[in-house]
Amino acid sequence: MIPVTKPFLPKVEEYDDYLASIWERQWLTNNGPLVNELELRLKEYLQVNHLLYVANGTVALQIAIEALALSGEIITTPFSFVATTSSIVWQGCKPVFVDIDAKTLNIDPQKIEEAITPQTSAILATHVYGNPCDIDAIQEIADKYKLKVIYDAAHCFGTKYKNRSVFEYGDISTTSFHATKLFHSIEGGAVFTQCPELLKKMSQIRNFGYNGPNEFTVLGLNGKNSEFHAAMGLCNLKHINEILKKRKQLSHHYWKKLEKLAATYPKINPDSEYNYSYFPILFESKELMLKCIAALEVNKIYCRRYFYPALSHLPYVQDQILPVCEDISDRILCLPLYHTLTFADINYIARIILRIQNYQETPVIDMPVNLQIELDTILKTKEN
Ligand SMILES: Cc1ncc(COP(=O)(O)O)c(C=O)c1O
Repeated sequence: MIPVTKPFLPKVEEYDDYLASIWERQWLTNNGPLVNELELRLKEYLQVNHLLYVANGTVALQIAIEALALSGEIITTPFSFVATTSSIVWQGCKPVFVDIDAKTLNIDPQKIEEAITPQTSAILATHVYGNPCDIDAIQEIADKYKLKVIYDAAHCFGTKYKNRSVFEYGDISTTSFHATKLFHSIEGGAVFTQCPELLKKMSQIRNFGYNGPNEFTVLGLNGKNSEFHAAMGLCNLKHINEILKKRKQLSHHYWKKLEKLAATYPKINPDSEYNYSYFPILFESKELMLKCIAALEVNKIYCRRYFYPALSHLPYVQDQILPVCEDISDRILCLPLYHTLTFADINYIARIILRIQNYQETPVIDMPVNLQIELDTILKTKEN
């Protein structure tokens, strides 16, 4: 079986070493030494000024919205993961969706201005698949209308924009360290800002609103993360360069093998250094995409329609039809991409997709040896 993603796992001995130290200290959570160490190492690696390690990427968004005291309407993208929208609603604000750019798949800055009303307090944009938005254009609009900017940078570990970490942009950037992300701590996330006052406020929000042992100055939640999660983050950070390198090689191999496919790929921001966090392909037609999904599944290869459906159709928002987003989310598919995926796996996936395009047939193609062995094992287990 080839799943759409598999988490990177360090050698178990590497994690064991951290576990032994946790047992010795008996300090499991609440801003422990490993959480502090992870924050320090992340700051060094990413070359950022400030960050806070939090429980997950969803809570990171909620903390950001709360810290900026946003209210009323927040302009956002319909093409993202559900947490981008749900966190806006959870914070008592109204998401106002603006269509995306057909080439970059990020929010289209040219359409933002017409959606601004006296109730608008912020723009919350996602750097989709780790590809930076048109940051300069968005900031210009935000400055003109005095709006705050939050970037959902959940896909962006390792991405740079104009030679700086993309996490350094906007009033606040947030990210996710969920197990499916290229850098992960099982569950986890972070908030980033350039502003020390905002950092302090977010740190209080992360810890129930505490300001000292017996004082609550702000409305808080429990956004802390544990020593066990930080330990996984510390292990994985040691492998991050090899992880990023491998994803780049795998993505280039896909592009080469799929050269003859009538498909396009998101246009990467030319001012950025991309992190290859996903491998999305935009098929010529929904029909061809669905046939490919079926053929791949027959061959035990699982892809993901990411993102589908558009967030503007969620049951708890005012329904909006955004033509570019509708069209893109109908035809986009993320192919498997993870550290242990092999070039042979990619050859196999590409052959199936090309055969569907060329002959419209659902093939069961000769499997690579590793997959055949896996399948045989599964079948034998079932027989017994
Ligand atoms: C764009 C985006 N935003 C937010 C999240 C939420 O992150 P988490 O799963 O860590 O809560 C995700 C996670 O998949 C995401 O892809």
